[in-house]
Amino acid sequence: MTDLLTISLEELVSSLSSLMDHTIAPLRDHHRRTAIAAFHIADQLDLTWQQRHDLIFASAIHDIGAFSVMEQQVLHDLSFESQYINLHARAAYLLLKEFSYFDTIAEILRYHHAYLNNSTELDRTLIPYESLIMQVADHAAVLSVDSLNILDASAAIINEVNQQSGIMFVPEIVEAFNRAAEKENFWLDIKNLPLSSLFKDRLKLDNLHIKSSELMGLVNLFRRIIDFRSEVTSTHTAGVAAVSAELARFHGREEETIRKIKIAGYLHDIGKLIVPSEILEKPSKLTPQEFNIIRTHTYFTYEFLNGMTIFKDIRDWASQHHERLNGRGYPFHENDNTLPFESRAIAVADVFTALTEDRPYRKGVTGKDAMLVMDVDVQKGELDGVLVALLGAHLDQINQARVIAQDASQKEYQVFVMELTKDQF
Ligand SMILES: [Fe+2]
Ligand SMILES: [Fe+2]
Ligand SMILES: [Fe+2]
Repeated sequence: MTDLLTISLEELVSSLSSLMDHTIAPLRDHHRRTAIAAFHIADQLDLTWQQRHDLIFASAIHDIGAFSVMEQQVLHDLSFESQYINLHARAAYLLLKEFSYFDTIAEILRYHHAYLNNSTELDRTLIPYESLIMQVADHAAVLSVDSLNILDASAAIINEVNQQSGIMFVPEIVEAFNRAAEKENFWLDIKNLPLSSLFKDRLKLDNLHIKSSELMGLVNLFRRIIDFRSEVTSTHTAGVAAVSAELARFHGREEETIRKIKIAGYLHDIGKLIVPSEILEKPSKLTPQEFNIIRTHTYFTYEFLNGMTIFKDIRDWASQHHERLNGRGYPFHENDNTLPFESRAIAVADVFTALTEDRPYRKGVTGKDAMLVMDVDVQKGELDGVLVALLGAHLDQINQARVIAQDASQKEYQVFVMELTKDQF
């Protein structure tokens, strides 16, 4: 096992921003557009390479905190005048600062809505210059959405941004925007340029070199983004990771495999970021249309992980958790002949956790009752009989591991929510 891991920030940013760009309307294609606009504005300013690098990185994921405040119904109120506007910026800061390599990015995101006129009581030297640039880029990106031919809309957008010069935005940054916005390529890039082209030809992002022991820190960052969307989901991932790791342990797997299964467990539902929170939180039966939206999530888990070399090993394990041995799962219709042990273990852990965990609107069933349900799933040819029997044989220990992991995650979530609403920025 090598001690240093290389994480491509280009892969990370592309995977994450394209995942987020598949979600509901206010965020659709929003991250790509903002990053491209920020790149062009930065080109007109005297920035260091590092500042430009961090600005593009931060812009491409800047609304990542919005997923964690969806339950407060604020995603639909991402308008720039909203009183909740800083909530998702603060959420992004709280999520990212836990992984020390992303400290600077966390600070940039924290202040990405700290406009001149809504942060008067704030010490303005705290606000990174990159945040101030992103504010203008963000606006241009939002205003650019509705136009069929963006060149028809550019004059009105320039006008709208300039009206906020000295009110919301720093005048010298608006000037830089104006110089960039004179050129058609600024607008055509906002509308069309893939992030991959930006990274290829104009601004290479760094690779991150971390110790292999630090990978869990990055994975935990994702876990929190996935689980902390709402109280309903706030501990699910932690439970699945714990149960699948225990299954692997009782199956006699090596430490390294157990660790990787745990990572796959943590990431298995990352594709759920594209599912609106009303559907995730719905206590009653889903309509066929809603269920079809849910059914897309493992496809997006696959796409997200497929984009990142560092997660190549666990891509299939994580994204196959709704596949079934009889071929009736989704989305690839794998079967008994094609599903590896690790994917089966995560599928069993997912069902067990879903049955036993408490939800705000119902209590989880006992471990024994969950086994009765899962035995039927084995008879139907859905779940692996050997793994379900292994779970039954070590039920108390495995269930205990789940409860401990989910309790810890619950506490973490409570602290997160408290921190979120403690300060405005
Ligand atoms: Fe934002
Ligand atoms: Fe935004
Ligand atoms: Fe799932």
